[in-house]
Amino acid sequence: MEKNVVVRLARRPRGLVTREDFDIREEPVPEPREGEFRVRAEYLSLDPAMRGWMNEGRSYVPPIGIGEVMRGYAVGHVDVSKHKDFKPGDAVVGLFGAQRYALSNGSGVTRADPGLAPLETWVGGLGMPGLTAYFGLLEVGQAREGDTVVVSAASGAVGQVVGQIARIMGCRAVGVVGGQEKRRVALEEFGFDACVDYKAGGLSDQLNETCPQGIDVDFENVGGEIFDAVLAQMNRFGRVAVCGLISGYAATEAPPGLQNTRSILVNRLRVRGFIVFDFTSRYGEALNQLTEWHAAGKLRFREDVRSGGLAQFPEVLNLLFTGGNTGKLVLKLDR
Ligand SMILES: NC(=O)c1ccc[n+]([C@@H]2O[C@H](COP(=O)([O-])OP(=O)(O)OC[C@H]3O[C@@H](n4cnc5c(N)ncnc54)[C@H](OP(=O)(O)O)[C@@H]3O)[C@@H](O)[C@H]2O)c1
Repeated sequence: MEKNVVVRLARRPRGLVTREDFDIREEPVPEPREGEFRVRAEYLSLDPAMRGWMNEGRSYVPPIGIGEVMRGYAVGHVDVSKHKDFKPGDAVVGLFGAQRYALSNGSGVTRADPGLAPLETWVGGLGMPGLTAYFGLLEVGQAREGDTVVVSAASGAVGQVVGQIARIMGCRAVGVVGGQEKRRVALEEFGFDACVDYKAGGLSDQLNETCPQGIDVDFENVGGEIFDAVLAQMNRFGRVAVCGLISGYAATEAPPGLQNTRSILVNRLRVRGFIVFDFTSRYGEALNQLTEWHAAGKLRFREDVRSGGLAQFPEVLNLLFTGGNTGKLVLKLDR
């Protein structure tokens, strides 16, 4: 008889996660009750937020409890249903957790359309990261035609979509990435106008060269030194959409403070943090637009699919924090 495979949080990690932080084990496959359905998950989304959810303390959602299933988005098919709106074979996306089989009452679940894009894209460009890029750039960053938009972690899940939407809106899109191969991907696959490699050194000079008119919108995914360098070159009345601060998520010491906050004052910057959940009521509108752009060939998505199943969860998750992924990181639940 088939077993479920479940990743449970065993203890609160420090820094990068280790195998000992999780209890990865076989359990019985759960049976749905009336009003529920069961999903057989096929791809687990690896998101930087997962690391934050493991920490104690106040955040925008409660921390995952010790012994609880690791929270995470997944996409798969309904295999058994006692829910009137979902039938076996339906492709669905939701916070099903890091497990092979999950039960759901349908709350927060959206549908994937494998006819429009492969299943894994529905946790990437046509899923939460794509929605984050859309609302972060257009609503929070208020990007307008002619703006210079800088986005960090530009070849990643969110960054790749930000750059392409910026181009669609008539902005100049400038990426910041770690490494020459990611730079190539940003320029050649996602059509960024320019892209700088912070690992090559001289980040401020590189930004100066690639943004001769200054920076109007910073889509901030990383924080730390990269954020600081971008802040210094913002234009008057520029907007900073603080989407993520990944450079600090797995840090074991408090990151050094920003040096260039004076730019906020003298340039009258509008700095606004956001969580994609703030826009839940408008997901449908955004998804229609993203799928339309994708169908028209204006929006391309790249996933970085890892195999090995849930046994590989800790190692694969860490790739996000070591820069080991290029594109949206997903784990194929093939075992
Ligand atoms: N606000 C929201 O609702 C929301 C929703 C989704 C995601 N986010 C945030 O968006 C950001 C990107 O997420 P994603 O899913 O698209 O991940 P991703 O960009 O696909 O992967 C993470 C990337 O971050 C970069 N990175 C990691 N540690 C770094 C460090 N110390 N210094 C510089 N760069 C580092 C690496 O790229 P390089 O090798 O190019 O440096 C890495 O590949 C994260 O901060 C995440 O928390 C926010």
